[in-house]
Formats: sequence, C-alpha cells, structure tokens
Amino acid sequence: MYEQVSHSLLNRILDELKPDLQHRDLRHFYTRLGANFYAIYTLFYHLYGQREDFKAQIVNLVEVMATRYVQRHAKLRHLDEERETDHNWFLSQEWVGMALYADGFAGNLEGVRSKLPYLQELGVNMLHVMPVLVCPEGASDGGYAVSDFRNVDPRVGSLDDINKLAMATHKRSMLLTLDMVVNHTSDEHEWVQRARSGEQKYQDYFYIFDNRDVPDMFEESMPEIFPETSPGNFTWDEAMQKWVMTVFNSYQWDLNYSNPAVFIEMIDNILFWANQGGDIIRLDAVAFLWKKIGTNCQNLRESHLILQMMKDCCQVTAPGVLFIAEAIVAPVEIIKYFGEDAVIAKECEIAYNATYMALLWDAVATKDTQLLRKGIQHLPTKLDRATWLNYVRCHDDIGLGFDDSAIIAAGYQPIAHRRFLVDFFTGQYEGSDARGQPFGVNLKTGDARISGSLASLVGLEVALEEGDEKAIDRSVKLILLMHSMICSFGGIPLLYYGDEIGMLNDCQFFEDESKAGDNRWMHRPTIDWERAELRHKHGTPEQRIFDGLKKMIDVRKGITAFADFNNRELTDVGNPHLFVFWRTNPMLPNGSVLVVANFDDSPQYMELSALGNRGMFGYGNLHDLYSGESPRLFKDQLVVPPYHFYWLTDQRPDVGFDR
Ligand code: GLC
Repeated sequence: MYEQVSHSLLNRILDELKPDLQHRDLRHFYTRLGANFYAIYTLFYHLYGQREDFKAQIVNLVEVMATRYVQRHAKLRHLDEERETDHNWFLSQEWVGMALYADGFAGNLEGVRSKLPYLQELGVNMLHVMPVLVCPEGASDGGYAVSDFRNVDPRVGSLDDINKLAMATHKRSMLLTLDMVVNHTSDEHEWVQRARSGEQKYQDYFYIFDNRDVPDMFEESMPEIFPETSPGNFTWDEAMQKWVMTVFNSYQWDLNYSNPAVFIEMIDNILFWANQGGDIIRLDAVAFLWKKIGTNCQNLRESHLILQMMKDCCQVTAPGVLFIAEAIVAPVEIIKYFGEDAVIAKECEIAYNATYMALLWDAVATKDTQLLRKGIQHLPTKLDRATWLNYVRCHDDIGLGFDDSAIIAAGYQPIAHRRFLVDFFTGQYEGSDARGQPFGVNLKTGDARISGSLASLVGLEVALEEGDEKAIDRSVKLILLMHSMICSFGGIPLLYYGDEIGMLNDCQFFEDESKAGDNRWMHRPTIDWERAELRHKHGTPEQRIFDGLKKMIDVRKGITAFADFNNRELTDVGNPHLFVFWRTNPMLPNGSVLVVANFDDSPQYMELSALGNRGMFGYGNLHDLYSGESPRLFKDQLVVPPYHFYWLTDQRPDVGFDR
C-alpha cells in the first residue's frame, strides 16, 4: 500500500543510507521494501513511535535489511525468486522432516553431513538441526540458552560446518531448518556481561528491577514454566544487585522487545542465519515475546506484532525463507501465529501442531477417538497459505494442551482426565505398559506433563524386557499408526530422531549433574549406529519400524490429496475407536483419499453406508495405497485390524497419484 507519511520517510531513509549500500544493485530489495514498508513502518511506529530516537531506530532497521541483502549469496537470492514464483511450494506433500540434535545424532555437524544418505534412505528431505550456537558448558536447556547468536558451539563444529551442511542439503534437494532462540539469551551472553558491568544500554536489553515491587506484580498473574527446577519468573543477580526476568531457567534472561534495539539485533541475527543457508528458521518460544503486568505474559497482541514485523523484514531481505512458530499454547492461540485476518501467513508460515500431537496421545491411552475428534473439530480453520508441522514426539515433554471444553464434550472431567493421562504414560495406571516420567509437576496447580521416548511410551521397552512378541508387535504397530496420522493429516510431518528405529528411553542423563534435574533428556538419545544397522535385519523391531516408515513416506509423497490446502474433512462413522477423515484433492475432485485409523487393540468395523455416496467408496470398491492391497470386508463393513490404518481410494492405484 502507498501511504504518504511512511513513504516520504522511506525516501529520506534511502537518501541517507550508507554510501556503500547506495551504490549496490538493490533493485529487488527496493521493490520488496516498497511493498512492505508501510506495514513495517506502521508496526514499528505502533510499538516504538513515542520514543525520541524513533527515526534513528527505523534507519538502523532499514540499514540492517539492506546490509544483509547485499551479503546474501547469489544462489540464495535466486532461490528467493524461485520461491516467490512458486509460492505454495511448502504446502506440497513431498516434504517430510526430521528434528535432531547434532551431537546425539552423529557426534557433531560434520557427522550429520555424513549421515544425510541415511536420512535420504528414509525419505526425509527437511532437516531440523536443533540449537548449535555457543551455549554454557553445563546446563544450557539443550542449547536453548544461547551465549552467542553468531557462532557455532565448538563442541559440535563451526560456522564453516553449517555452510557445508547447507550446501550439502541443497545439493540433495533437502531443506535446512535452524533455530533462532528469540525470547532469551543465556546468562553468559555478552549483553548480559555488559549489563552486569553496569552498562545501561545493555541493562535495557533485559527486564531488570532494583527491588521486588514490579516482579511481585508480574508474578501475580504469570504461570511457572519449569516449576520444579526454576520456580518463579525472576532471578536475583548478585553482580548487579538487581532482579532479572527469567521465565524459563534462571540462567535464561528474557529479552526486552519494548526496546527497538533488541528487535533490530534479533532480526539481524535471523537474517544472518538465513544468509548461512537456512531455508526455514524455527522461532523458539514465540508466545513469550512481550510482557505486561496483569497478564500471563503469553500470546499478547504485541508478540504477534513483533512476529509480523520479523516476517515483513525477512520478506524484504530473504523472501524465500520460512518461519516456524514454536508456540505450545492453547489451540485457539496457536492458530494466531500464522497471522489473523489474512490469506497468506502474516507471521509464521508453519506452526507446531501441538494440539494434534497431544490428542493423538489421548487416543493411544484411551483407545478411543472421541476427544481427538472433538479437539480437531474445535480447531479454528487455518489460513490457506500456511501449514502445520505435525509431530508425534520431539525433544520436549508432552503437554496436555487441549481445551477443557473439548475434554468435557468428549464426556470426561478435565482434571481427572489429565491425571489419568499422566498416570497412564508414567506406567502408574493399572495395565499400562508405558514408561514415561512426569515432567514439570506443579504442586500448586496439580499440572504435569510427560517425558519419554515414543517407543518407551507405547510399550516397546516393557515388551522387549519381557520378550513378549505380541506386545512388541503391538508397539511397532502403534508407532506406525501414530506416524500414519502425521503423514496424512495435512502439513509437514516432523519425525524425531531415534523414533525411526524405536530408540528407548535413555537414562544416562541422571549421571550428568547439569542434566539430572530435567528428565526431557531421557528422550534426547545418542544414536547407537550399530543398533541402527539392525534396520537391515529382517524381523527386528528396528527393521519393521524403519521399513514401515520408509514405505509410508514414499507413499505419502505420491498422494497429491495429502498436500495441505485445508482439504481435510472429519467424518463420524459411529465407531468411537476409529478416527476417520477425508483428504480431497482440489485439482482432482475424484482423487479423494479416506484415512481410517483404529486406536483399539481389537479389530473394529466400519459400516460402508456411513461413507454416503462418495465415489465408489460406499460400494466397497476400495484400494489401500499404503499396502497396495484391497482391505478385508465383512458383509457391508470394512474390517480394521488392531492399531491398523488405511489410506483408501476407490480408484485404480495409478489414477490421480504422482507415482
Ligand atoms: C522451547 C524449546 C524448549 C526450551 C524452551 C526455552 O520451548 O523447545 O526445549 O526449553 O523453548 O528456550
């Protein structure tokens, strides 16, 4: 939009740009800046317009964007242009991701590069390497306490290794996802050190208070994130003799985004990593970016405005780069991180589908899909040009973050039901073979979350210990069932390293003092590559899981109806153990796929008449794309074996599929 005030300011800013920037070829930069400037200006003015240095700050911002544009490699700029033309590229069903810790997966970044063929063997083409930046020697919240936003931790490699990894992934047509921890720094960051030594400029980068007056007011309405290990939201700093806001761990200092200098530093860091070849930047803990007394300091409107500005600025300099929102919050809040009142994403193009993840675990525990269905029905519709990151497990705990209203609608009582789930997955519930541990137990509120690896949570650990073949088989089936759900739902499936070979809980972390208090480490494994070789040995759980996933990924990539165009429709078939939904193909009206999943441990039946008269489905003319076979029918019913899924079509397998 052209708007006089902002554009006359822009013209003045451009006249004042550093001479070396003015003489560069900034053609594309100018076009994009012109298109985005009104939005950037409006947001920046809204947040910082009352400051005397407003004009100086916005000049800094434009200079950062221009400098990073000039530094952007020609190959990356070319990629930007390609993605601008093919703007729906990331909605395709062809993307399948995996998140991993470089050290746990392969020792270091060089090791990760050497293991790219393994990921390709599985079919993974989007790699998320979790934080690799310099962080404290001891406790570092798994690297999410960053001490230097521009340098790689020498324990995992160097900047050069990241560049090489980016080149290698691009050569293999894979995407590279990198983390940017935007909400806080570690207490070893240079900004903290300078704040501690009394520099006001850097004290203003954080929330720092002389006494408890303001902190106490904040505490009245702020929840605790790590109540067991880091109670409260403020930490006393001996050096400054002041209180600092530390929402996560006491060594993670919250950045103060009401200071424009912080915003500019962080967008500069984001663009820096975009220029190192990151295709996707995962923005950590975005729900927490803005703080206001009297609120829970999560999901505030200003946090969204900050993200919108980040997106607008990134679109000017590196428009091919996508953002992932890591906001593990209530369903109605998560969806807002795509940006409201828009068609294309105004904030992040991708968001973690924490709701779906938690609901899937509910279906595992209850063997019933009522809450899963209600929960999905309660999810507001997502923007057209935005997509989910669907996952079963990740490096964090499982939070039971579905709405109370959905729990009630499914016929349960919220507190009792959540308690049941924690008991179930920690093996406390009669008959449960899950081996998780409670995480983040808050004795004041009774809240708890769950830690544990996928395989141990679905009973594989117990089954192997007991040598119970039937139970092993059941766990393997559950692992595949869960993945079939994230591969077909709509969005990018994100596998978690180790799950593809059924890695169990790893309790070695107890021996490391800096990790012992955080049981999320039990599901952050070190891959045993000898064990991974068992994927080639017929009949082992490793082989059955790996090959099952490999096939699933391959088949998914060919099903165009699995691309994400908001083309999912839940259907109630009258059997509470079954989760059933349609995926339609907007380009091929006859190319629908019916996804059927049985979460129960006994066979279930689905009346074909429940499918109505869609194509030939109701006539039982069915073909399962995953197995390549026709499913069993009994009279007018589809038979779904225990923990089994189907991806059904009523067409010949070669029609409408990119095989
Ligand atoms: C994100 C990370 C989590 C970390 C937190 C604080 O939620 O996924 O591991 O503890 O941010 O940085």
